[in-house]
Amino acid sequence: MSDSIESQSHETRHFAPTAEFAAAALAKPEIYERAKSDRLGFWAEQAKHLHWHKPFTKTLDWSEAPVAKWFEDGELNVSYNCLDRHVIAGNGDRIAIHFEGEPGDSKSYTYAELTAEVKRAANVLTSLGIERGDRVAIYLPMIAEAVISMLAVARIGAVHSVIFGGFSADSLATRIQDAQAKLVITADGGYRKGKASALKPAVDEALKDNNCPTIENVLVVKRTGDEVVWTPKDIWWSDAMANAEAEHEAKAFPAENPLFILYTSGTTGKPKGILHTSGGYLTQAAYTHRNVFDLRPETDIYWCTADVGWITGHTYVAYGPLANGATQVIYEGTPDAPHPGRWWEVIEKYKVTLLYTAPTAIRSFMKLGREIPDKFDLSSLRVLGSVGEPINPEAWMWYREVIGGNRAPIVDTWWQTETGAIMISPLPGITDTKPGSAQVPLPGIVAKVVGEDGVELGNEQGGYLTIAEPWPSMLRGIWGDPERFKETYWERFDGQYFAGDGAKKDHDGDIWLLGRVDDVMNVSGHRLSTAEIESALVSHPWVAEAAVVGASDALTGQAVVAFVILRLDQVEAAGSDSDVSRVLRDHVAKEIGPIAKPRQIMVVAELPKTRSGKIMRRLLRDVAEDRPIGDVTTLADTTVMNIISGKIAAGAND
Ligand code: WT7
Repeated sequence: MSDSIESQSHETRHFAPTAEFAAAALAKPEIYERAKSDRLGFWAEQAKHLHWHKPFTKTLDWSEAPVAKWFEDGELNVSYNCLDRHVIAGNGDRIAIHFEGEPGDSKSYTYAELTAEVKRAANVLTSLGIERGDRVAIYLPMIAEAVISMLAVARIGAVHSVIFGGFSADSLATRIQDAQAKLVITADGGYRKGKASALKPAVDEALKDNNCPTIENVLVVKRTGDEVVWTPKDIWWSDAMANAEAEHEAKAFPAENPLFILYTSGTTGKPKGILHTSGGYLTQAAYTHRNVFDLRPETDIYWCTADVGWITGHTYVAYGPLANGATQVIYEGTPDAPHPGRWWEVIEKYKVTLLYTAPTAIRSFMKLGREIPDKFDLSSLRVLGSVGEPINPEAWMWYREVIGGNRAPIVDTWWQTETGAIMISPLPGITDTKPGSAQVPLPGIVAKVVGEDGVELGNEQGGYLTIAEPWPSMLRGIWGDPERFKETYWERFDGQYFAGDGAKKDHDGDIWLLGRVDDVMNVSGHRLSTAEIESALVSHPWVAEAAVVGASDALTGQAVVAFVILRLDQVEAAGSDSDVSRVLRDHVAKEIGPIAKPRQIMVVAELPKTRSGKIMRRLLRDVAEDRPIGDVTTLADTTVMNIISGKIAAGAND
């Protein structure tokens, strides 16, 4: 990584906004000064873009740090802010969602129509006994009902926990149990990679044998029409909606009412339920979406390609755009079905102006070549966003030239599930953008690069990224585990939020994110824990010990590489290394989900450990990335690495 740090500090290319873009942009340079001179006043102003049933008088209470209370005495309804108020303001006929199914079916919802759907859905939830504070699990494909469900849960003051449809039955069950959800909203299936892919069986599996006793009902959206096994708890979404009352009044809830839990991987095996609340979250979701994308709700067509199963889908599909009254595209499927130009076709069809996607997608398009996007009219695009992992300068330049026609500014946005909304990003009408750097904290955010002692470093010195002041959309805790919340984020650098990322400021003071410094991996912008995959591996009867590392990968950023030691009495049963590899990869997919499947599994006789028994992942990463092995002097047995790399070099693993 040191080579790339070196080159980053000397990046000289930069791209100023055009005079025309800068002149018309919503955010003007003064915004930085304004936020700096009165940070809390600035956030209070941003919060006033929302509709408050009862206005707040206090902006921030930090007396119980690190649990913040923002706009605490104010009351609002998140769903009302995303729907009713736009209709009341006369924008009921504006399109809220253009839904595009993978097979090519499509359906558009105006704000009035979406409001009507959510009102009915809220009544359905109430009729099923869901009350304020109850948890509702949402396990759906990328269809409009996912957003409708989230807004309906929010509307009645309940708490949603969206679980990405790619997660396994086991992962679904663990999350339902941890949150003690009362209801699951799912679908028969969805379309992915050119075919119908079932979802309902995973719910059945998660709930079987009374494994999730808190679940009272399962609402099932019909999407594919494939046959499903029906259980006594199941109710068709369409039946429930048809029987529900049409009217629903959105009641006000306190600003700190919990809005959702979203599980994400940490450094231990157990995913953390990140808790977000209402007023502060929605304030920053709307503020960042408006300013980072320079949004004109009357004319822009926005498309964020993330799934609602991730935080990007929460903040930049569901809440930010709808709070701002934007028109957006939601696409169900994969980028390459039924043909590799599918995304560009969607952009041409809807004349998308603002695109928000991930570096891994850009790199895979880059690999296919510019002939594919060149066949489509992408001239409507005016701002391009990137999120999820560092974007390498090469992919950044390709994105700018091929997709953005050398015209549309790129905003590389750094944030996390925990931060709730964008924290570090250029502003497209102000910042001279620079390939590969997320650059500057947004107005209102105080981010630092600090050394081991928590003291801020100067430019061109690598350290850790921290956030030094509370922000409105910050997590309020880890569900059911206040101690872990404090330990994970607040103890390493006393009083500052530790993000888990390495960072460095270059000669201009622009921030470069250097990847995770903990045992969290980032594969295609998805967060995975080494410990979680290790425990999935050792849950297989063949495996005695496992160590997982994230190895750099040209396409996915990082890839999962696992080293396993087989149980002596199982070696024969397990068969060849390639059999072991195949079986264990499938086992991980079943335990966690296909996204966690190791790219490579190496069967080894020993793992490199320190004298105190700690696995030295650094050395395994050297092997996985095909580099000379680093310093082995702290190993308990210094010959171990020779044996491991000897076996790899001999090609015993394929
Ligand atoms: C981790 C958070 C933010 C929504 C998607 C991921 C990495 C995220 C960037 C970026 C460099 C980035 C960080 C962070 N990350 N955006 N623009 N440049 N790194 O959310 O799953 O909570 O993961 O993603 O390492 O800590 P998440």
